[in-house]
Amino acid sequence: MKELSYIDYLFERENLDDSKLGELIESNNPKVLEYLYGKSLEKKIKYYDKSIYMRGLLEFTNICKLNCKYCGLRWDNKNVDRYRLTEEQILDCCSTGYQLGYRTFVLQGGEDSYYTDDKLVKLITNIKSNYPAAAITLSIGEKAYESYKKYFNAGADRFLLRHETADKDLYNSLHPGSSYENRVRCLKDLKEIGYQIGAGFMTGLPGQTTKHLVKDLRFLKNLDPHMIGIGPFIPHSETPLANFSGGTVELTLKMVALTRLMIPKALLPSTTALGTIDSLGREKAIRAGANVVMPNLSPTNVREKYEIYENKICTGDEAAHCRQCIEKRINSTGSYVDMGRGDYVDWRTNNVY
Ligand code: SAM
Ligand code: SF4
Ligand code: FES
Repeated sequence: MKELSYIDYLFERENLDDSKLGELIESNNPKVLEYLYGKSLEKKIKYYDKSIYMRGLLEFTNICKLNCKYCGLRWDNKNVDRYRLTEEQILDCCSTGYQLGYRTFVLQGGEDSYYTDDKLVKLITNIKSNYPAAAITLSIGEKAYESYKKYFNAGADRFLLRHETADKDLYNSLHPGSSYENRVRCLKDLKEIGYQIGAGFMTGLPGQTTKHLVKDLRFLKNLDPHMIGIGPFIPHSETPLANFSGGTVELTLKMVALTRLMIPKALLPSTTALGTIDSLGREKAIRAGANVVMPNLSPTNVREKYEIYENKICTGDEAAHCRQCIEKRINSTGSYVDMGRGDYVDWRTNNVY
């Protein structure tokens, strides 16, 4: 079968022609898919063994001035009960997380102007001085170079900023008031400053074609980020995309596996969105080459309010419960939990602590 030889070629050379990538994306032959996931897992094990890294996610504000058409937190959605955690609440969550063994805290939020650079620098400095052994990951959207530099100097280690889609027209149609060029500028600035950067995209976006997905793989190959988040788009009823269908488990797993083979050393999260559309979605992604999970550390009383899409899993579960639940799930795949910082495999050792 020619698809199997494409996968072998991709496994060896870590690259493949666009048209062949397209054929693999469109294949629904179970033998091809099983082979693809197996080769992806083999590649992941080569660089990261059977370990799965854990990140503690803190959704610290659901206030957002932007209007991304897919997101339930968009400014125009007036049916969101908006919140922002205080610095004290954030530090409490870090304390709980640290006791549970987490050594990465991911601070994620909407583009909330309340959090000025000075406030963010103070927050980062404070977390870092309390937990010097933990990595801080930011996921707070598009900023100026100078702002990114300030957070880095204060101790932030990593930054997640999905590129969402590498097709300029599709990007601009989904992001009123924002531009593809600025998104890419941000990712390049972050890399130059010295962050471990995370890009990534959604599968099943309205208007997305195989060609767009090939563009995503090509974009990622050129950018060479340290992390790549891939999850299905899930429609939210209070957004302009409410009536579209979302991404599927199969397409998402294919893209995770192809990404592993194209950019083999990347940290690839098994996303909560995948766990939301399929109760075993996260396990399937781990079997297809993902190696990171991000359980939630936010206080349970705000979890439901961070509704980027509906029916999100884990909204009623305490951090300690998720910590145990996810470990069982990971073990069921034949992998194991690694509670270290979980840096990118080639990360400079002098940068680690
Ligand atoms: N505001 C920051 C940003 O946009 O980069 C970080 C928070 S944002 C909620 C994190 C990610 O959620 C986005 O990069 C996007 O890919 C994802 N997301 C938003 N709405 C979604 C939806 N309806 N379905 C799946 N993923 C979604
Ligand atoms: Fe805001 Fe991020 Fe949602 Fe866009 S995806 S509306 S920037 S929280
Ligand atoms: Fe949260 Fe299973 S990981 S309940």
